[in-house]
Amino acid sequence: MITMKELSIEQMEEIKQLFFKIFSNEPWNDDWSDPIQLHQYINDLIGNKNSFSLGLFDDDKLIGLSLGYIMHWYAGTEYYIFEFAIETERQEKGLGTDFLSKIEKYAADKKITHIFLQTERTAPAYHFYQKNGFSEIKDHVSLFKFFR
Ligand SMILES: CC(C)(COP(=O)(O)OP(=O)(O)OC[C@H]1O[C@@H](n2cnc3c(N)ncnc32)[C@H](O)[C@@H]1OP(=O)(O)O)[C@@H](O)C(=O)NCCC(=O)NCCS
Repeated sequence: MITMKELSIEQMEEIKQLFFKIFSNEPWNDDWSDPIQLHQYINDLIGNKNSFSLGLFDDDKLIGLSLGYIMHWYAGTEYYIFEFAIETERQEKGLGTDFLSKIEKYAADKKITHIFLQTERTAPAYHFYQKNGFSEIKDHVSLFKFFR
């Protein structure tokens, strides 16, 4: 049975394994081979006071991740999703859509009014989010500066 549960630091190893597997694959091919950096990144996401992390489970197996923060923005309480993903072999079967709809219901009960997230225009996820009712903030721009 497919269910959704809140995740905590106790599931750190399971979360790291699933995250590593998904994002080492297409389309991202991210290099998470440094275990300390991976551990710290997941800890950044799930170990903070305002962390809000949800997992999609097939019975007891973790198959989906939604990792981020609750932010008390003036216009409403936001769920800022940093990482959203479905296990590689189970993608494109409707699970991401199901997971998002479960998240929306759960978040609404917690008085969260909206979700904010970022992705890349060329990623399949861009179409996935649009299909699921997300719209672009047209004037928004993300800036980045390397200093090392
Ligand atoms: C993006 C992701 C979360 C979507 O979840 P999913 O379970 O694969 O998506 P669904 O099966 O619910 O797809 C819904 C729609 O999104 C689109 N879509 C999803 N994945 C796609 C892909 N890889 N290529 C093309 N379209 C895709 C489809 O058009 C689909 O519409 P359809 O029902 O008309 O076919 C999942 O594919 C994933 O984890 N990808 C890798 C990690 C990632 O990119 N995360 C987002 C980073 S910001």
